Amino acid sequence: MAKKKKILVLNGPNLNLLGRRQPEIYGKLTLEQINQKVRVLAKELGVEVEIRQSNHEGELVTWIQDAIAQFGAIVINPAAYTHSSIAMRDAITAVGIPTIEIHLSNIHKREPFRHHSHIAEAAVGQIAGFGVDSYLLGLRAAAARL
Ligand code: DQA
Repeated sequence: MAKKKKILVLNGPNLNLLGRRQPEIYGKLTLEQINQKVRVLAKELGVEVEIRQSNHEGELVTWIQDAIAQFGAIVINPAAYTHSSIAMRDAITAVGIPTIEIHLSNIHKREPFRHHSHIAEAAVGQIAGFGVDSYLLGLRAAAARL
């Protein structure tokens, strides 16, 4: 498949704990179960996805930088780095790959410190509050930009 058809799906810190992490906020699905739904939709849309998770800001920055070689779009749930990482925001701006920011929860109706996203300023747009559907909507938005 042509490299511009590939979408990189990135997950930030603590998302490896989905399923048992505050299910009343983040839902009961594990990250692997979410990934499975993403892969099924990707197949339907005719796009290739690569899905990764890291608890390390620098690793996420490196993956964003390296995405330029292979990926036409990024879907990212930056998790807590949403609210703190200028480094990730700068990496997204630097590579210029269309990036869709997603969140399981609606960060705008939670604690005030979650209302601001550094990533939003570099992203095409943000999808928040739809649980696993945020991933699927994000994938559709990314596929439309390839
Ligand atoms: C999150 C929201 C963030 O505020 C939080 O730190 C997360 C998950 C979400 O998907 O709702 O870890 O990005």
